[in-house]
Amino acid sequence: MTIAPEMLDARYSAPQPDLSQSWLREAIAGVLTQLDTMLPRFTTTFPAASASAGRYPAVEKVDWTEGFWTGMLWLAWEVTGDDKYRAVAEGLLDSFEERLDKQIKVDTHDLGFLYLLSCVNAWKLTGNIRARDLALRAAELLYRRFNATAGVIQAWGDLNDPARQGRMIIDCNLNVPLLFWAADETGNSAYREAAVRHLSQAARYLVREDASTFHTFYMDIHNGQPLRGDTHQGFSDSSCWARGQAWGIYGFALGFHHTGDTTQPELARRLTHYFLNRLPEDYVCYWDLVFTARDNACRDTSAAAIAVCGLAELLKILPLTDPLRPAYVNAIALIIRNLSTHYFAPPQDGLLREGVYNFGRNMGINEPNLWGDYFYFEALVRLSRVWTPYFC
Ligand code: GLY
Repeated sequence: MTIAPEMLDARYSAPQPDLSQSWLREAIAGVLTQLDTMLPRFTTTFPAASASAGRYPAVEKVDWTEGFWTGMLWLAWEVTGDDKYRAVAEGLLDSFEERLDKQIKVDTHDLGFLYLLSCVNAWKLTGNIRARDLALRAAELLYRRFNATAGVIQAWGDLNDPARQGRMIIDCNLNVPLLFWAADETGNSAYREAAVRHLSQAARYLVREDASTFHTFYMDIHNGQPLRGDTHQGFSDSSCWARGQAWGIYGFALGFHHTGDTTQPELARRLTHYFLNRLPEDYVCYWDLVFTARDNACRDTSAAAIAVCGLAELLKILPLTDPLRPAYVNAIALIIRNLSTHYFAPPQDGLLREGVYNFGRNMGINEPNLWGDYFYFEALVRLSRVWTPYFC
């Protein structure tokens, strides 16, 4: 049964000024200035996941996030043509190779975030064959995390750990494109089948009736039956973690690109309405959509940036006659303008203030984070030109 999306708030129907090319150019110039201040410090290391006390510590192979740095370097290279960005991104391939050789932090579904934004980019944008080989090795590792009985990619940890087996998470929607890419590249249809199956299980079990999402969901790996949904980074098992919802919007829109399955953009639309209808006055979401203005909760600017990219991707798919197109265009303009005006450019590192990494674990609260920076930059690039997304 197809469930109709929530009615979109009327506030998105009020006409908004367009995002002009000159506004976008200026916003991108601001991003490049900020990146240039960080570049000399991160040529052989990466900014950490979040910038505590205004500075990103330098790290290497410790998290799921290092690809966002190379992703930004490739965006900067595409926008400017300046080879200083490309040279650093290419130099950092050594780190991605060593990660695979020594199996450092690869027991995760986040191989997509890591290797799409580093190695697949280097291959697609410059024909770097070594990068292609590394990305294919990463794709094979991701494929091994697929459990055929459960029909899902195990999010985290040892594949033999019963506590972690059969657990999928909404974030993985952005990682399965590595499998679609590897299937196209090698002709190995098993990669595609795993990705399609995972997306279909995510649509069925991670999305609730009302189009909010569970962060994570457990499947029984012995009989393929659904067990339960819960959260890892949201406020509660029954609330809707804002970033998870944003991963869902973007991921299901991308899913259509890879599968042609028209139920996926409709799902992305339902998730979008749920998300947009719960935004506060400045259109930048709280870190969990359960919060309202009364709660004095922190924002998560990274979720806002991801949702903009997802909604922009959805707009590419929807028919030109879709009656809600103008409202979606308004929503994008409202969010990105508010991000740029009120949250851009902290005093030191990073692009967006007020991200939240993991509130429950007291990690990266009210700080810039690397993926928020990346998706803010991606949003500006994709709104300013014809651009092929790195997750395609
Ligand atoms: N994928 C992990 C996160 O969004 O924090």
